Amino acid sequence: MSAGTSGAYWSDRALPSTLKHSLLGRYIPQFGGMTGSRDGRVVYLDGYAGEGRYESGLPGSAEIAMRVASKHLSQHGLRWTCFFTERELKSVTRLREIAGIYQKQGVDARVHHGSVGGVMDEVLEAAAGLPLFLFLDPCGLGLPWDRLTQALAARRTAKRWPPTEFLMNFSMVAVRRLGGNARSAKGVEASSERFDEVCGGRWWRDFFPAGQDVAPGADEAVAAEYARRLEEATGMLVRSIPVAKAPHHKPVYHLVYGTWREHGLWVFGDAAARARDQWWQELEVEEEKHEPDALFSTTSLIRPDARALTAAAIPAIADNLEQLLRRHRRPIKLVDHTADVFGDYYGQVTEVAARAAVKHLHEQGRTPSTGVSRNKEKIRDLIVEPAR
Ligand SMILES: C[S@@+](CC[C@H](N)C(=O)[O-])C[C@H]1O[C@@H](n2cnc3c(N)ncnc32)[C@H](O)[C@@H]1O
Repeated sequence: MSAGTSGAYWSDRALPSTLKHSLLGRYIPQFGGMTGSRDGRVVYLDGYAGEGRYESGLPGSAEIAMRVASKHLSQHGLRWTCFFTERELKSVTRLREIAGIYQKQGVDARVHHGSVGGVMDEVLEAAAGLPLFLFLDPCGLGLPWDRLTQALAARRTAKRWPPTEFLMNFSMVAVRRLGGNARSAKGVEASSERFDEVCGGRWWRDFFPAGQDVAPGADEAVAAEYARRLEEATGMLVRSIPVAKAPHHKPVYHLVYGTWREHGLWVFGDAAARARDQWWQELEVEEEKHEPDALFSTTSLIRPDARALTAAAIPAIADNLEQLLRRHRRPIKLVDHTADVFGDYYGQVTEVAARAAVKHLHEQGRTPSTGVSRNKEKIRDLIVEPAR
């Protein structure tokens, strides 16, 4: 399985990367803001950093992080220590040029030529006592399970401080290809063993039995099971966002996010919904570029209407809230119950839907809480009371 990028990769951003970069660019400033205020410092690793910037001028993941670091430094005095590792010499050379721009602005950007595994210990050492964010975005298979879970275990503390989070690319292309490999009599055992290492065992092979039909959705089942196992092994809240090249296509990868903080889960879900919307926007722009004379774009016909989605989500979230209130029999703060509040709409709708759901519940006399922020509290900090 190739782990490098093809020649065209860095010419311009492909659609899946629109979602990935939009999500990264929306989420990591909030991670820095939420976790960095205590010590004024944050540590960041982009383990498969690439070139930093596309030839088209758009920022890649590394430049996105450096921009955030530069802005946080100048506006809030918050210092990001950014590690970037890249294995390809051509890519790391370009990455160093981009990093140079930000180093001149005072950003602590450390570029390493080599494998991500080789810098992990240095990163963990630099992050001792400080918030740490890991962005792991390989083209094919990523970090072995043991390496990943050991690094996270080393960061786990009873007090949940300092916080650690990750966002990781889990390749669905690799799952499908290796699934086929595992069930084929001509399959290469070494390739399957490499995936065993990534998954922390042979369990994934059960989804691709030799001599039997593969169940529909076996690839998605592997991704879900991987996330579940990661949650179990780390005690983190883990959510996974599918990313496709086009509507109704199978995802090329999942972006798997992990955190020990409910606040992280809330903000990430909101960022994911906004990033998804940007993905659709970009799809429309691309289509218009290729078919400028079309009266209307196909995308505009199939793009989910964000307002309709939110309208459908509001009563569902209101019901979720009512169930939570029944279960807890006391006032609840929204952010303490992110997954239960959003339910199936997690990552689909923005936090605005949660406030609207509280208002909806209030209008129906199901809570005395109005959903209005009295002291300018954020939506996630709204308290909702049970019906009297
Ligand atoms: C998908 S690309 C990265 C894209 C980049 N994160 C972005 O979003 O702009 C994956 C990169 O990882 C590099 N790579 C592959 N295996 C690696 C490893 N073990 N350690 C470090 N870099 C690696 C590849 O050369 C390639 O440039």
